[in-house]
Amino acid sequence: MNVMTVVERDVSETRSKMDARGVQVWYGDKHALKDVDVAILDRTVTAFIGPSGCGKSTFLRCLNRMNDTVASARVMGKMTMDGQDIYDPRVDPVQLRAKVGMVFQKPNPFPKSIYDNVAYGPKIHGLARTKAELDEIVETALKKAALWNEVKDRLAAPGTGLSGGQQQRLCIARAIATSPEVLLMDEPCSALDPIATAQVEELIDELRAHFTVVIVTHSMQQAARVSQRTAFFHLGNLVEYGETGQIFTNPRDPRTEAYITGRIG
Ligand SMILES: Nc1ncnc2c1ncn2[C@@H]1O[C@H](COP(=O)(O)OP(=O)(O)O)[C@@H](O)[C@H]1O
Ligand SMILES: [Mg+2]
Repeated sequence: MNVMTVVERDVSETRSKMDARGVQVWYGDKHALKDVDVAILDRTVTAFIGPSGCGKSTFLRCLNRMNDTVASARVMGKMTMDGQDIYDPRVDPVQLRAKVGMVFQKPNPFPKSIYDNVAYGPKIHGLARTKAELDEIVETALKKAALWNEVKDRLAAPGTGLSGGQQQRLCIARAIATSPEVLLMDEPCSALDPIATAQVEELIDELRAHFTVVIVTHSMQQAARVSQRTAFFHLGNLVEYGETGQIFTNPRDPRTEAYITGRIG
């Protein structure tokens, strides 16, 4: 084997895609996130781990301004993508969410055909001029989501008729159809069986060739399998952030060690 071709890209030399500085989130008088600094690396899978209620989803939702839709939420601090302030008043959150796509815990396909689920975003964002172009976008997204072979003969069938794992891959196809740069996934496997989970994990590894992926997971095994970087949250603080292998084998903070060894959580 030619060694040159199998050398892993060195994550430490990857540039940062999104940066957060001093991010705080309040829901009414509940201080949910306290002064979070993190640099999300380009074309890297970053895992957010930590006990339930520690602020993982809250932070994920800051990255595409989904907290804008939560009336009681106040977000402070600075967040940038490619150096641009994503909270600048001139940024349209709908456009931002096309660039920073999201996949949720429970697969939530629209009550539409498989085709229309994937075509929806490209249509509303005017990404295709002709039916042939739209067909091409749909096919490419379904291929990247590793679902094309299973659905290519029934694109007109309802998305809700697929199995849970297929539905989640359909939601991933829908998210990537608008050519996002970042893909946020909030516990994307928690409603899936082990086989579907393994398929989605394999897919996440392939997606990092094209996208920056951030995944919230309550499974430390999953974080260790799919990510190159891990951030450990605890009680609204980002306690430790680093290379995934280091976090799991040689954590620097006693709270991280307590969590990964099962003493808190
Ligand atoms: N919409 C909301 N309104 C009020 N409190 C919320 C809301 N969403 C989350 N919280 C609170 O913020 C904290 C962090 O929640 P969350 O980000 O969902 O944690 P995690 O994803 O790590 O389980 C929790 O105490 C939670 O109860
Ligand atoms: Mg959550």
